[in-house]
Amino acid sequence: MKELKITAKIQVCSYNELTFPEKNLTNIAKEAVKRSYSPYSKFQVGAAVLLNNGEMVSGSNQENVAYPSGLCAERTALFYANAQFPDEAVDTIAVAAYTNGDFVEEPISPCGACRQVILEAQNRYNHPVQMILCGKEIVYKVEKITDLLPLSFDSLSK
Ligand code: THU
Repeated sequence: MKELKITAKIQVCSYNELTFPEKNLTNIAKEAVKRSYSPYSKFQVGAAVLLNNGEMVSGSNQENVAYPSGLCAERTALFYANAQFPDEAVDTIAVAAYTNGDFVEEPISPCGACRQVILEAQNRYNHPVQMILCGKEIVYKVEKITDLLPLSFDSLSK
């Protein structure tokens, strides 16, 4: 029997080790948590998307009393970016989360549905989508979404 081993590269660093543009995007994601509508989970998430033309857009999680109708910050930001700038490749997404009066210690990682949507952006523009996942001090840097979603479904490649 053959075995497939899947590896993912995730760089762990501190906020201070980020480049100036990375810090900037991170700060925009942190700012966006303030615009979260999360009365049910009380977990505020912000996402900031950097497009290839340098444009940056942000989004936050938007909840609904019919729970599944809500949307994560990543998809809110990404769909907004694609709706406004359909011809611009997505370069980087930064994500931050805030709860109980502070940013979370451990970076949060996008849910499965968001990973699938980010993968679509990566394939659509044939451009790797980097992720900057921000904890209070610790930051995870991921070079491409396929590191977080290996063996993904892609009917076009079959
Ligand atoms: N959430 C996000 O917005 N992004 C994530 O990466 C994880 C979870 C939201 C969904 C829901 O509004 C709240 O956080 C609690 O799960």
